[in-house]
Amino acid sequence: MKDIAIYGAGGLGREIASDLDKFFPEDELRRLIGFFDDGKSIGEQISHFGKCLGGINELNTWSTPIEVALCFGDSNTSRIVFGKIANDNVAFPNLIHRDFNILDKDTFRIGKGNIITGGCCVTTNIAIGDFNLLNGSVVFGHDVHVGSYNTFMPGCRISGEVTIGDCCLFGSMSFVKQCLKIGDGVRLSPLSPLLTGPKDNSLYIGNPAKRLKI
Ligand SMILES: CC(C)(COP(=O)(O)OP(=O)(O)OC[C@H]1O[C@@H](n2cnc3c(N)ncnc32)[C@H](O)[C@@H]1OP(=O)(O)O)[C@@H](O)C(=O)NCCC(=O)NCCS
Repeated sequence: MKDIAIYGAGGLGREIASDLDKFFPEDELRRLIGFFDDGKSIGEQISHFGKCLGGINELNTWSTPIEVALCFGDSNTSRIVFGKIANDNVAFPNLIHRDFNILDKDTFRIGKGNIITGGCCVTTNIAIGDFNLLNGSVVFGHDVHVGSYNTFMPGCRISGEVTIGDCCLFGSMSFVKQCLKIGDGVRLSPLSPLLTGPKDNSLYIGNPAKRLKI
């Protein structure tokens, strides 16, 4: 059985620890050896699932093969932490909940380090890059192509033929209309429907969602 550690000892990390067995096939289960977190002390008890093993320095000097799940509520933090990890012993598996529903497995493509929690569903010709978080009951329609480090909060809906770049965040119960091209760094407020193409690195709020100029 391979060892796995969770990087990020906050709410998402503890949620993943609670349900870890469901994120791997029954013949590929992992043993959770603990948590990494730069804001905690080595040996600090995180939950009944384990203690803190250290932060970035300890991970970068880990001397045996280890899998790590980057568990941050905003995948942009995963991007920053991933950029600091420099150790060939570290691998980043996908954590895909067993009840994730893929209508067409033959056309489904996915990179590494993604977390897909329970109740999510995608249809056909889906491409997902690296270190994205689909955090519960997220739905992708047909031909959705997603880059890396994006966060999809619970219940958000991405319609067919939408493309998404990197480092975007879609709030809980938000909606994206079909065929929109979304670049990088777009943040969509919870409950907001996005009906027109957004500008990069911008925040969209309201019904329909409008750019908030700050
Ligand atoms: C909308 C959201 C993405 C904005 O996050 P952000 O890009 O970090 O922006 P900030 O929180 O710094 O807010 C920027 C500005 O927009 C304002 N703002 C944020 N949300 C707003 C809203 N719904 N309506 C009006 N103004 C809002 C803030 O007050 C702030 O204004 P200020 O600069 O005058 O103080 C974030 O607040 C959010 O809702 N995230 C998702 C939450 C979610 O789905 N949670 C589920 C957890 S499982």
